[in-house]
Amino acid sequence: MRTRRLGGSGLEVSELCLGTMTFGEADEGSFMHGVGADEATSFEIMDAAFAAGVNFFDTADVYGQDGLSERVVGRWMASRGARDRLVLATKFRFRMHDGPNGTGASRRHIVRACEASLRRLGTDRIDLYQIHMQDLDVPEEETLRALDDLVRAGKVVYLGCSNYAAYRLVESLWTSDKRHLERFVSLQAQYSLLVRDLEREHVPLCTRHGLGILPWSPLAGGFLSGKYTRGEKPAEGSRLASPRWQRTLTEHGNERGWATIDALVQVAAEVGSTPTAVALAWLLTRPAVSSVVFGARTLAQLEGNLAARDVTLTDEQQRRLSDAAAFEPGYPYDFCRRVQGRW
Ligand SMILES: NC(=O)c1ccc[n+]([C@@H]2O[C@H](COP(=O)([O-])OP(=O)(O)OC[C@H]3O[C@@H](n4cnc5c(N)ncnc54)[C@H](OP(=O)(O)O)[C@@H]3O)[C@@H](O)[C@H]2O)c1
Repeated sequence: MRTRRLGGSGLEVSELCLGTMTFGEADEGSFMHGVGADEATSFEIMDAAFAAGVNFFDTADVYGQDGLSERVVGRWMASRGARDRLVLATKFRFRMHDGPNGTGASRRHIVRACEASLRRLGTDRIDLYQIHMQDLDVPEEETLRALDDLVRAGKVVYLGCSNYAAYRLVESLWTSDKRHLERFVSLQAQYSLLVRDLEREHVPLCTRHGLGILPWSPLAGGFLSGKYTRGEKPAEGSRLASPRWQRTLTEHGNERGWATIDALVQVAAEVGSTPTAVALAWLLTRPAVSSVVFGARTLAQLEGNLAARDVTLTDEQQRRLSDAAAFEPGYPYDFCRRVQGRW
């Protein structure tokens, strides 16, 4: 497994990162209910990923009821003695209990959230602590100061953000710079052949300012594996068959989505691989991407996803995939592209 630096930081991470959102048998209240993996399967997946050289695991306090995913990862790390060889990433920001201060990016919530994650993970430090989404109700400086304190206290090693608007992320980097506070080294965001909004602002931003992009839902929730077909009902048990995830299927099951699947199937045949591995490999060719945060609910899916490390795409194949999944950049990006260098 190849490794890459996480953005401009010195941290080395495997170019595939194991997402653990599906780990643990989530109860009915959880958004992962019915589409997750029980603890024994989760352990098998972590064993196999770790053995294959995946040194980077991503979780969040909000995955599964009461931090279920963090608890499963914590128990696995303890039983395997794996903590020191693992780059452990988690997140805070969403609601963990009722009432005021049960959610958000205030100093109050951050301090509590970090302590709770450390307890569930059974560790004394988090390697990459990520804010799960910007919080426009809290001054960014308060958030950054609280996070900076955690770094200085040795509870957190690096800071990352997730789901930030580009303007807010630049403001955040500017605040860190002005106030001499730790800054974000990574941006975790939705990015796949079918969801390419990041290419408007965030990709140039991260390239310019040295943040590593960590794409989430790189298979568009499983759609890009090619297991869904035009005009056919999704197979029972798959994520996009679940009523909760119907919107994702509707969003992707259009002409552009099916044309992208066709291109993936064609390129996969050319390189002797699968649509899944090619979809992940395409992301690894994108600028500023440090590691792709993929999901696997079974051991077979894990093996299928790890195959991405063996795929090399030519420039022409990358272009064909990008063209099949072309999207409208919209104003002002299309205007600037047309006019740049001409006027
Ligand atoms: N920061 C954020 O806001 C955010 C949001 C979402 C996710 N994430 C992170 O990103 C990680 C990955 O997200 P994701 O689970 O949505 O990613 P994904 O890789 O797009 O989807 C994973 C799902 O696709 C299906 N799948 C995976 N591999 C497959 C294969 N080889 N063949 C067929 N189907 C396959 C499985 O679902 P089924 O078997 O059930 O169909 C699996 O649960 C999460 O674990 C989490 O760490 C972060």
